[in-house]
Amino acid sequence: MTNKLVYFVGNWKMFGDLKSIKVIKSVDKFYKKFSKGNKKNKLVFCVPYTLINFFTRSLKSRHISIGGQNCHHDSNYGPFTGSVNASMLKNSGAKYVILGHSEKRAEGDTNQIIKKKIKSALEKKLKVIFCIGETSRDNKNKKTFLVLKKQIRDSIDKKFDIKKIIIAYEPIWSIGTGKVPKIDELQKTFKFIKKYLKIHYKPKSVPSILYGGSVNEKNISMFSKIYDINGFLIGGSSQSSKKFIDIIRNYYK
Ligand code: PGA
Repeated sequence: MTNKLVYFVGNWKMFGDLKSIKVIKSVDKFYKKFSKGNKKNKLVFCVPYTLINFFTRSLKSRHISIGGQNCHHDSNYGPFTGSVNASMLKNSGAKYVILGHSEKRAEGDTNQIIKKKIKSALEKKLKVIFCIGETSRDNKNKKTFLVLKKQIRDSIDKKFDIKKIIIAYEPIWSIGTGKVPKIDELQKTFKFIKKYLKIHYKPKSVPSILYGGSVNEKNISMFSKIYDINGFLIGGSSQSSKKFIDIIRNYYK
């Protein structure tokens, strides 16, 4: 087993209330012991806005960070009913923010809007988890690489501090469906994304790239075989401490 840094990021979507802190506390308790075996991980829970401040105050964990799931593209206050900006997220205790998730793209986020959101989040010193991914039609038509390249190029400006951006590859057809790509497809896709980032942005070190889409405690051992995967964005299975813990455990089995 390698000693590379591996992210386990939970995306709670529109789930959870104040009592749900117990899920994260159980993970924290487990990980305190588990990490003594020299594991190098970052654990993040991206939760609804309503829980961020309460969770960061009650958690005080060395191992777990809290993040948001979106932010408005304007970093100033403004007349945007229902919105929260990067500065408000930061102020509430978030360290990370998911941007470009396909569920937000479906509600109207374009590559250009996402680019403004990334800029604003980076300015406010949030780490960005930037989601990209193709539809099943793109996949069938062999357009995956084209789509991913455009999503990256149109949303990550060359001037951005790419060190602060984590990419999450989430095929849309895999989110919440139980379907996952085949190992060899994933290997090729991760190689492609890494190569593209290297060539286009010439970073000192290539950003971490996570896989997301129906990750669970059973299929995690298959993903652990792919060296280029630097971690996971986990939706459904991150709402249960047992499943989340089993995912981490089984990754290292
Ligand atoms: P899932 O969601 O794990 O439930 O498929 C992943 C995501 O939407 O980030």
